[in-house]
Amino acid sequence: MARNRWMDEHFADPYVKRAQAEGYRSRAAYKLMEIDARDRLIRADSIIADLGAAPGGFSQYAARRLGPAGRLVAVDILPMDPLPGVTFIQGDFTEPECYAQVLSALGDRVDLVISDMAPNMSGVGASDQARAVGLAEIAIDFAVSCLTADGSCLIKVFQGAGFTELLADMRRRFQRVATRKPPASRPRSPEVYLLGTGLRPVVSGPES
Ligand SMILES: C[S@@+](CC[C@H](N)C(=O)[O-])C[C@H]1O[C@@H](n2cnc3c(N)ncnc32)[C@H](O)[C@@H]1O
Repeated sequence: MARNRWMDEHFADPYVKRAQAEGYRSRAAYKLMEIDARDRLIRADSIIADLGAAPGGFSQYAARRLGPAGRLVAVDILPMDPLPGVTFIQGDFTEPECYAQVLSALGDRVDLVISDMAPNMSGVGASDQARAVGLAEIAIDFAVSCLTADGSCLIKVFQGAGFTELLADMRRRFQRVATRKPPASRPRSPEVYLLGTGLRPVVSGPES
């Protein structure tokens, strides 16, 4: 889209105006707000990981919902201005050191993993989609490795190549999987969120 047209649409967008009026850093905050209004993901005492958090709209919304017993650890490759109640780790979540740092900051109970990670779009559709699928797979693996049995994960994915396989993978690992396209997600965007709840117990095979 031409830059001028993008700017016109951006500033006419009611969610951009609302974010400015309500002090949110990004219109993305309303996507999480709308999903949370429907699915009640965040409790006052939730321990939450926010993957791909910058500039911080999701984190801001989630932190506002938490009480003193709740905790939020956010991570992004990009820097993010501090937010009250949020521990921010700057790093590439696909790197083992960063992954381990986030796990250790969370502690031994994690109730909710949110991933809004998206690659920098190169404009080459097939490779952008493959990188987006790769980020979603890492977020799902992370969620499965650390969530409590009744925990949830909300993962951004893009409809296209690899989407059906991601959905099948989520269904193998969670008892309930729902697709969410909140009104704040632009209709022309292929993004949707997969919501997984209730980890399936790991069935180990016979020992050899
Ligand atoms: C759509 S933005 C997130 C918006 C954010 N949820 C909000 O509410 O403001 C996607 C983010 O994913 C981050 N990201 C992409 N790849 C990443 C990676 N490998 N590790 C950490 N963050 C990553 C990008 O830097 C970008 O800030």
